[in-house]
Amino acid sequence: MAFKVSEHVTWVGKIDWELRKFHGEELSTHRGSSYNSYLIRDEKTVLVDTVWGPFAGEFVDNLKKEIDLTKIDFIIANHGETDHSGALPALLREIPGTPVYCTANAVKSLKGHYHGDWNFQTVKTGDRINLGATDLIFVEAPMLHWPDSMFCYLTGDNILFSNDAFGQHYATEYMFNDLADQDELYNEAIKYYSNILTPFSKLVEKKINEVVSLNLPVSMICPSHGIIWRKDPLQIVNKYLEWARGYQENQITIVYDTMWNGTRRMAEEIARGIKSADSEVAVKLFNSARSDRNDIITEIFKSKAILVGSSTINKGLLASVAGIMEVIKGLSFKNKKAAAFGAYGWSGESVKLLSAALADAGFAVPVEGIKELWNPDSEARENCFTFGRTFALSLANGKTG
Ligand code: FEO
Repeated sequence: MAFKVSEHVTWVGKIDWELRKFHGEELSTHRGSSYNSYLIRDEKTVLVDTVWGPFAGEFVDNLKKEIDLTKIDFIIANHGETDHSGALPALLREIPGTPVYCTANAVKSLKGHYHGDWNFQTVKTGDRINLGATDLIFVEAPMLHWPDSMFCYLTGDNILFSNDAFGQHYATEYMFNDLADQDELYNEAIKYYSNILTPFSKLVEKKINEVVSLNLPVSMICPSHGIIWRKDPLQIVNKYLEWARGYQENQITIVYDTMWNGTRRMAEEIARGIKSADSEVAVKLFNSARSDRNDIITEIFKSKAILVGSSTINKGLLASVAGIMEVIKGLSFKNKKAAAFGAYGWSGESVKLLSAALADAGFAVPVEGIKELWNPDSEARENCFTFGRTFALSLANGKTG
């Protein structure tokens, strides 16, 4: 499959309908993904990025149907991660010596992955190559999301090739944003940002401002995953700016795991207490052992506050809660408040541990957590209700930190 994107650009990537896990088992991809590779044909012919290794043979075979491979003047590797560079070894076996343009850091990552002595040509921000009627301009984008990441921009067609930025893990035959299901597209775009780009939010804002200051007209944004933004392409740029600035909606997310339902009952009473104080706020509950971790992370990203609960086991946390806390810590959420809760039988360390972990992860933890013995009785449930109500009221009053 290949299709025309613009006067000079053809999409030659791979839609991966089957993908359900990415980054090993770390990231769920309920709607598959695509690895977008773009062929630019002007006086010079350039390939921007490739596809993931398992599809290398198919990719090279399809590319041969589109063009005589020896006509490719050079390849751009915007990023060394294997979902975009995985077909480079197979391609370079066909056309050895073809220059690979990339950042200095990408030389390290590509050599690190493939150990190939390829014809690397390093580029930096502002470097420009004439292709005939069009020019390519390079913009380094370190830590969006790897040190080697880069964007490139095609004049004439006014296309920003943004690699992972502005992408989504979303397989669809409608490869343009105006054709795609808008809810699915939005949900995949925010999930992608929440789970991958959150820790780099400051850099996102800085890089967007830097690209905007170049005053380049943008007719399309062509990321390396998901759909191409051709209708109002800057909408996703504006969303990224919004998401990068301590984003929150009027939502509180409750995440818990429970051994014998005591912590679940606490979660439900806390939720009732929150709603009694604020009927407008969205309250969402997730058992972390039974829900998709990346979907929970997306809900946390959208929240102004979270409550995390765990029963105490062996003086510690239940494994699913400990696991999601590790992810939460790495993502460095900003501008969010939190509190802990949990049921216990005799020692009850989980709430103290969770409160410390939430503070360590950058959440404001304005109130002491709540723990209840065994299966909460009516008095304990009332305590949880009051705890939820007080927490919500203090958020509304801005008294929590
Ligand atoms: Fe960072 Fe899509 O690879």
